[in-house]
Amino acid sequence: MSRLATIPVSETGAKASPDQHCVLRVDDLSLGFRADTEVLSILDGVSFELNAGRTLCLVGESGCGKSVTSLSIMGLLADNAEILGGSIRLDGRELLGLERRSLERLRGDAMAMVFQEPMTSLNPAFTIGDQMIEAIRCHRDLNADKARQHAVEMLIRARIPAAEERLNEYPHQLSGGMRQRVMIAMALANDPQLLIADEPTTALDVTIQAQILELIRRLQCDTGTAVLMITHDLGVVAETGDDVAVMYAGRIIEKASVVELFDDPQHPYTIGLLSSIPRLDGNLERLPVIPGAVPTPNEMPSGCRFSTRCPFADERCLEQVPPLGEVAGSETHAVACWKAPLEHQLAYQEVGA
Ligand SMILES: Nc1ncnc2c1ncn2[C@@H]1O[C@H](COP(=O)(O)OP(=O)(O)OP(=O)(O)O)[C@@H](O)[C@H]1O
Ligand code: SF4
Ligand SMILES: [Mg+2]
Repeated sequence: MSRLATIPVSETGAKASPDQHCVLRVDDLSLGFRADTEVLSILDGVSFELNAGRTLCLVGESGCGKSVTSLSIMGLLADNAEILGGSIRLDGRELLGLERRSLERLRGDAMAMVFQEPMTSLNPAFTIGDQMIEAIRCHRDLNADKARQHAVEMLIRARIPAAEERLNEYPHQLSGGMRQRVMIAMALANDPQLLIADEPTTALDVTIQAQILELIRRLQCDTGTAVLMITHDLGVVAETGDDVAVMYAGRIIEKASVVELFDDPQHPYTIGLLSSIPRLDGNLERLPVIPGAVPTPNEMPSGCRFSTRCPFADERCLEQVPPLGEVAGSETHAVACWKAPLEHQLAYQEVGA
């Protein structure tokens, strides 16, 4: 049975790109963190691209490297991070190696980010208005009145009631959902080409989650912003994504359009993830999760990083890294597994995964 039957895929999952302009191209990005005398590999050969107006979901379990990928793009990595190779281009411009001031200019202007917990980005000591007006004036040549007017417009577009009054309030006076709306309004205030949303709804209750995702989608439609949506939630992928890249232990192991991924997953890990979501076809029990845990950075297997949990692993899997190769019959679907395509969706469950 198609997995589309168990989870609603939004219309955006199948829409054609309104604009083929490539906003973000991450190519063969490898990164490690220094620990004592060694550098532990975290990202290994991560590649993806994102066009204007599209939403790419980066999905994977906790610790797989989603946030490290987004922080690499924003130039916000911790001091112990070491880029080991690759390239990150925003609208054709290389970001790796860019000096700090140039990156600061791009942040909040050409690219912006919203985080899971808005309080990490909002300063509790200043009003919403102070913070929005400063963010706008850092990047736009507007006087204080015009910047204030623009802030109010952005709050209205983010469907925040009594927008004028909100400007005088402090972050703690707003609900979690309202704070996230403010963050989105602030992130989009300078009309960025790229918005990175790192688990933007994880801290919110389900109704508010849906409203926030809808808000991002609506504002994206207005502006043509490319959205990199980071999530561990396949429901969010189905709801918001055009394309999806599945990460496992610092590598991208499957890439596809959202429709292809839900309809014809190829990697045993992806199949396991999809089997772990609650079914909406009348059978509400949660299917078993993938047994085992993601290997820690200091115990990465040398071949396929999923080999410690994969019921199909053999000698070659343990020794050789499977490349990300095109799935026959699709230019947009790629998988990194020595044994794909596998006729094993049912077999996978039969072996107890
Ligand atoms: N500053 C750091 N020093 C050492 N290791 C780090 C550092 N920051 C992140 N890591 C490690 O990098 C790996 C990837 O972390 P990352 O935060 O990107 O995961 P994630 O996919 O975003 O997980 P989550 O879903 O929990 O947010 C983890 O093993 C994490 O412990
Ligand atoms: S390469 Fe081997 S271990 Fe890795 S997912 Fe495929 S079958 Fe499993
Ligand atoms: Mg994270």
